[in-house]
Amino acid sequence: MDKGNRINLPIGVFDSGLGGLTVVRAIKKILPQESIIYLGDTAHLPYGTKSSDSIIKFSLANTRFLVKKGVKAIVVACNTSSATALKKLQEFFDIPIFGVIEPGSKEAVKFTKNKRVGVIGTTATIRSKAYQRELKRIDPGLEIHTKSCPLFVPLIEEGWVDNEITYKVAEIYLGELKRSNIDTLILGCTHYPLIKGTIQKVMGKSVKLIDSGEAVALFLKNFLKKKKILAKNKNPFYHYYLTDFPQRFKKIAERFLGERIEIKKINLG
Ligand code: DGL
Repeated sequence: MDKGNRINLPIGVFDSGLGGLTVVRAIKKILPQESIIYLGDTAHLPYGTKSSDSIIKFSLANTRFLVKKGVKAIVVACNTSSATALKKLQEFFDIPIFGVIEPGSKEAVKFTKNKRVGVIGTTATIRSKAYQRELKRIDPGLEIHTKSCPLFVPLIEEGWVDNEITYKVAEIYLGELKRSNIDTLILGCTHYPLIKGTIQKVMGKSVKLIDSGEAVALFLKNFLKKKKILAKNKNPFYHYYLTDFPQRFKKIAERFLGERIEIKKINLG
């Protein structure tokens, strides 16, 4: 396909569920002329507690679906998938595929002054040590502190974003990070931007929070610009697909994205 046709093709974004809509929100803000096809694998949610083999299998199926839809690039919005499956996806598919780990880590390194960086995420993301490896690759002199926060995802999906129980849970999870004197904290999970306020309150104003979704949107913009394939769509489209579709997902989706949407259910076989 020549470049002229290619530039207006959509960007594919996938996540284990709906949290990746925070990444879509960031891409829409930073790249308003790009069309987007979103796939949330709600049938297999959550990824954060699953084995690496399962996460890789699901991620391959999600990528195959988006490639078949004719996207020009793919963003793996899911931190758990990015941490576990990105390399495999890049080996298997002949299309630019971006995860959130590298952009999030680069942003963190830009901001830290005392070289103490924290990372929070799902159990699988923290277990994979993907953020730790990437941060050390960029700056071997960093001191890295991590904490998995598995209760955050269900609390956020329940809509308990500004809630005293969530605050208490955050205080317990983040206590050690706070004491370790970090000045930068990576929100290494699609869901966490929704409780940014709570996390900031617990960590204190002096700690810079890095939203890996925003970071990957900026990363994508630079890539499209460099390759001269930035879209010029006057009326970009946004298509949303889920692999399972209980009624409650629509409400959660609208909370993550901040607007009403139509969702189609698909079967990845
Ligand atoms: N999307 C996942 C992530 O960013 C969180 C939800 C899940 O565990 O699947 O790690």
